[in-house]
Amino acid sequence: MAEQGNSSRRRFLKAGLAAGGALVASGAVRAADDPAITELPSWTTSLGDGVDARPYGVPSEFEAHVRRRHVPWLTADATSSVNFTPLHDLDGIITPNGLCFERHHGGIAEVDPAQYRLMINGLVEKPLVFTLQDLKRFPRTNKVHFLECAANGGMEWRGAQLNGCQFTHGMIHNVMYTGVPLRRILDEAGLKTNAKWILPEGADSAAMTRSIPIEKALDDCLVAFAMNGEALRPEQGYPVRLVVPGWEGNMWVKWLRRIEVGDEPWHHREETSKYTDLLEDGRARRFTWVMDAKSVITNPSPQAPIRHGKGHTVITGVAWSGRGTIKQVHVTLDGGRNWRQARIDGPSLDKSMHRFYFEFDWDGRPLLLQSRAVDSTGYVQPTKNELRAVRGENSIYHNNGIQTWHVRETGEAENVEVS
Ligand code: MTE
Ligand code: CO
Repeated sequence: MAEQGNSSRRRFLKAGLAAGGALVASGAVRAADDPAITELPSWTTSLGDGVDARPYGVPSEFEAHVRRRHVPWLTADATSSVNFTPLHDLDGIITPNGLCFERHHGGIAEVDPAQYRLMINGLVEKPLVFTLQDLKRFPRTNKVHFLECAANGGMEWRGAQLNGCQFTHGMIHNVMYTGVPLRRILDEAGLKTNAKWILPEGADSAAMTRSIPIEKALDDCLVAFAMNGEALRPEQGYPVRLVVPGWEGNMWVKWLRRIEVGDEPWHHREETSKYTDLLEDGRARRFTWVMDAKSVITNPSPQAPIRHGKGHTVITGVAWSGRGTIKQVHVTLDGGRNWRQARIDGPSLDKSMHRFYFEFDWDGRPLLLQSRAVDSTGYVQPTKNELRAVRGENSIYHNNGIQTWHVRETGEAENVEVS
């Protein structure tokens, strides 16, 4: 009986090798003397935990390396800092709630939902105050959108710096929001004819405020209370945040407590001294709201080298545009001499992250990997030099230039610039 089982398994392995072995794996031939197959592991020889061991599920202990990370020297204090999304450990298009990058200017506000209020005041017919329950009585909608901080990649303006896409590109997350269209709430208050701008304000100690033109407020902004199906996380603005699709992350006010309606922009700190683009001649470009098309290869990358040696290799990454969808992603293996079409897989949604793959046979020689996104307006992601030609050397924000990873013969990757 055992003999028979063994020989039929061997036949099965051989068949598998003939069918698929040439394409990918080479390990199957060792199967007969592989203790991972021939010896029973503890998880097979004993019972596991019962159903209620983890009432709120957590990842496998073997995934402990998958976590947000920060760069201690980047900011003076953790209460006004950033913790980056581990893009190199993720797949698909949705960022899990516990891994969404977090950026706070005054720490995480722990808001009691029972005491939560949203006030609408200023140029409205009827100033209003809503509780969380009130907000949940409006018709709601579900939308997947990326949020990218305008400072994402800011350290890379003058050249390659941080070694890992978590740090160079990890100020982005892509989440399904459930919320009420802001238009419904503003309609309820009734806009006066001279209402041209809104000023959302946060309930955190930073009391974050940004001026947003009324056209955007009435177009696709959401007052959101859920992310990926559950209540917002405290880091993301629990219980309510503003969603401003395609526009820079700073405008997505968390712990939203008030929306003032006005007739002109307020020019507060976050839209004058911060989040504006300093040009070569010393002038600052006023209001850069939309996040232009951008992409990055997440695997391989410095934190995720190629470990399997030469042969069949899967390159993957993400692309997004604040102006619509991504139509194409091109990948180069030789620093931009030859570009090839990558395969976009998964939902292609408006102002949402897209996933791309590029499969090829690696001959083991060094690579200069880059990706380049083309969005639904036809806009092509620029090189860093093309960006500098327009914006100069002094900028920080809105860096959507093409990223290069140098992959060595060993499979190790490092951040370099080729542009
Ligand atoms: N809202 C409040 N109230 N306080 C803040 O510090 N930070 C802003 C924005 N909204 C901030 C805020 C910035 S700069 C960004 S990039 C995003 O929130 C970050 O959102 P996240 O923490 O969900 O990643
Ligand atoms: Co930001």
